[in-house]
Amino acid sequence: MTDYKKTIQQLKKEGRYRKRIPTRSPQDVYLKVNNRNLSNFSSNNYLNLANSSYLKNQFKTNISKYGIGSSSSPLISGYSIAHLNLEKRISKLLGFESTLVTNSGYLSNVGLLNAVSKNKIDVFQDRENHNSIIESSRLSNTKLTRYQHLNYEDLEEKISASDSKDKIIFADSVFSMTGEKSDLIKLSLIAKKYKCLLFIDDAHGFGVSAYDNRIFPSSINGLDKRKLNIDAYIGTFGKAIGTFGAFISGSKNLIDLLIQKSKPYVYSTALPPALASTTLDSINYIMKNKSITKKLESNINFFKDLAGQNNINIGFSNSPIQTIHIGDPKRVMSIYKKAQMKNIYIQAIRYPTVPLNKDLIRINLTSDHNKKQIQSLIEFLKKVQ
Ligand SMILES: Cc1ncc(COP(=O)(O)O)c(C=O)c1O
Repeated sequence: MTDYKKTIQQLKKEGRYRKRIPTRSPQDVYLKVNNRNLSNFSSNNYLNLANSSYLKNQFKTNISKYGIGSSSSPLISGYSIAHLNLEKRISKLLGFESTLVTNSGYLSNVGLLNAVSKNKIDVFQDRENHNSIIESSRLSNTKLTRYQHLNYEDLEEKISASDSKDKIIFADSVFSMTGEKSDLIKLSLIAKKYKCLLFIDDAHGFGVSAYDNRIFPSSINGLDKRKLNIDAYIGTFGKAIGTFGAFISGSKNLIDLLIQKSKPYVYSTALPPALASTTLDSINYIMKNKSITKKLESNINFFKDLAGQNNINIGFSNSPIQTIHIGDPKRVMSIYKKAQMKNIYIQAIRYPTVPLNKDLIRINLTSDHNKKQIQSLIEFLKKVQ
C-alpha cells in the first residue's frame, strides 16, 4: 500500500507536488485566480467559446427542452435525439460512417482499446502520447510498445520486430503538452504497409486546425482523404468546442462494437442531452464563423513572430500550444509564480506529464487574446527564460 504521507513528502522534495487553485470567474481571456485578474494563457479554450453569450443562451434553451441530467446510461434511457443529431453531424463533417458521443476523451480512449483488445494485440504508441492513450493500453489486454517521439523509422523497426497478427498504431495528432503534430499521412502509409489499425486522438486539433473555409477545422479535414487510413478518430468537446464530452468516429461496425463492449460507455450515465445539443450548436457556430479560427491563426503567428524577434526559445509548434523548454521542475514553478505577479497565467508542466528533464512552460493561445496581452507575455518571457 502506498504510504500517503511519505509519497507526498517525496513529491514536495522533488518539486513535483501539484496543487489545485480554484478560479473565480468563467474561462475567458482573463481569469480570476488568487484574487488577481490574470491574462489567461492556461486553458484549452482555443476559440474562446466556453463563456460565449451565444452558447450560454443556447444552453439555457436546450436545458428547457431536455432538462438537466440524462439520468441513466445510454443503453438504458440516457441516449436522446440530441446525442443522435450530434453523432450524425460529426460523422458528416469528418467523413466517417458512424460516431459515438462519449463522456470524455479519457474514457473514449480507455473504452476503445478495451473493447477491441484481445491477448496478443500489439499497440504501438508515440512516447509522448497523452496519458489517456498510454493508460488505455495498460488497462487492456494488449502489449504496449512505445516508439521515439515522432520517429517513424523507430516505429517501423518496432512494428517489424513484432510477431503479433493484430497491431494498432495509436497517436496524438497534436501533442497536448508541446503542440507538435504527428504526420497523419505517413502514419497512414505505415499502418497500411504493416496491416495495422490506426487510431488518432485529435483532442487538440478538432475545431482548431483550419485548412479551408468550407470544411470543419480538424487535423484531418483538408488532408488528402485518399491517403488517410484512420480506423478510429477521437475528438473532444472540452477544448476548442467550449463544452464538455468527447466522441469516437469510425466504421459502422467499430461504433456498433463500442456500443456493445466499451465499458465506460455502457456502464456510465450518458452526457446530459442539453450539453450534447449545445455542442452541436457550437460546432455549427464554428462552421459558420470561420473568422474565429482565422483570428486564432493570426494570434499564433503574432506570438511566434514576436518570440523570434526577441530570441525567445520556443518549441516547433504551429498550434495554439506553445512551449518554452526549461528542464527543471523547481525553475518552472518559479517562473509560473513570477508570471502571476505580472498578472499572467501560464502553466508549469512537470514530470510525469512530460518526460524527465523536459519540464516546460506551456502557453495556450486563443482567438480572443488581444495584441497587448501577447506583447506583455513576450516582455515577461524575455526577462525570465
Ligand atoms: C490528447 C488528449 N486526449 C484526451 C484527453 C482527455 O480528454 P477529456 O478532457 O475530454 O477527458 C486530453 C485532455 O487533456 C488530451 O489532451
